[in-house]
Amino acid sequence: MTHFDLLIQNGTAVLPWGEVAADIGVRNGRIAAIGASGTADAVVDATGLHVLPGLIDPHVHLRDPGDPTIETLPTGTKAAVLGGLAAVFDMPNTTPSITNADRVAWKQGYIEANSWCDMGLYVGATNGNTPELGMLETMAGVCAVKVFAGSSTGDLLIEDDASLEAVMRNGRRAVAYHSEDEYRLQERRPMFHSGMPYRSHMEWRDEECALLGTRRLMALARKTGRATHILHVSTASELELLRDYKDVATAELLVNHLTQWAPDVYDRLGGFGVMNPPIRGKEHWHAAWAAIADGTADTIGSDHAPHPHAAKLKPWPEVPAGLTGVQTLVPVMLDHVNAGRLSLARMVDLMCAGPARVYGVVGKGRIAAGYDADFTLVDMKQKRMITNDWIVTPCGWTPFDGMAITGWPMATIIRGRTVMRDGEVLGEPGGRLVNFAA
Ligand code: DOR
Ligand code: ZN
Repeated sequence: MTHFDLLIQNGTAVLPWGEVAADIGVRNGRIAAIGASGTADAVVDATGLHVLPGLIDPHVHLRDPGDPTIETLPTGTKAAVLGGLAAVFDMPNTTPSITNADRVAWKQGYIEANSWCDMGLYVGATNGNTPELGMLETMAGVCAVKVFAGSSTGDLLIEDDASLEAVMRNGRRAVAYHSEDEYRLQERRPMFHSGMPYRSHMEWRDEECALLGTRRLMALARKTGRATHILHVSTASELELLRDYKDVATAELLVNHLTQWAPDVYDRLGGFGVMNPPIRGKEHWHAAWAAIADGTADTIGSDHAPHPHAAKLKPWPEVPAGLTGVQTLVPVMLDHVNAGRLSLARMVDLMCAGPARVYGVVGKGRIAAGYDADFTLVDMKQKRMITNDWIVTPCGWTPFDGMAITGWPMATIIRGRTVMRDGEVLGEPGGRLVNFAA
């Protein structure tokens, strides 16, 4: 009789080749058998649940080092596993930013001692570190170089074509971009003044800012042949353009842009709807869903970017840009599945296979023998409401407060360890660095 460390029984497994009613056996933190029968040290009963590969949020800002009253790596990763995520990739615009080998080395150790989930980390590109990027992107746990080609929170910025081209010519892996044209952002800024309505945010950082930025990056990507990942694509026109650049480019969409639209979001939420790139009109929401339907979108993320509650109450433009989201990404996406906007298989494609393909994740992102035993168990029928008091990020708010959800993550299993079950975080932080192909 075969013996496993863990057996996940009676669930519907979402395999790369379809949904199958199959028990899954785990040994030494890896998937040992699908359609398994045998004995086990531990059993998870998944009756009535779908067993997904461990879901990945490839875009979070955990703010560590930074201000612990807003967010920390331990609290942000606790939020992640409560929300059904097995891994997150963390952005470099912390205080200080992660831009050199010493800071990467510090963060590698900090993650392995404090994270509840597995993690990748971005290295921030600067005009000073460009020659080292090829080395930095091969350090353990580094998911990609991140370039802010338009300014946002923090001081990371590379705005001109020559410097952007130099980044592309240093290194080989996909580079991830915040794409808004900095020159147009600066040029338009004087047209707006303090105290104007919150929707001014999307009028200042308009569709043309995003399109211009992405058009310039696509030209440079073709010229250099460097794989280029455009984060948080927010406009119909960029999605149209990106369809002609699939040889060099991949695209991320955000749950916020798939769930909220202007002017409604600014009327309802004020500063709690302000982020970069902005949430825009309904035609862009339609375009985003079309890009989910036709495959233009490769990944989805939360862009979890916490700011103090009091700061989000400030008038525009003093209000900082960014919205919390790591804990709510999976519930909101499951609700979209139940509403018929995408299939569960496509959600898994966007949150597992997509990040694996774009970032070169090794040994995660699919339920297959030999892969890490990462699972997100979801109850597609569970009805809950998202509320601020559920949020464990210290700043304590979510733009989805009061949203009724159908579909909820019931367990998070990482390398065979159950770290969340029925809304409770279990054990100690045991997260590790994700492996990436060099
Ligand atoms: O809204 C945003 N907030 N967009 C970004 O690009 C950065 C993020 C943050 O770090 O606050
Ligand atoms: Zn971001």
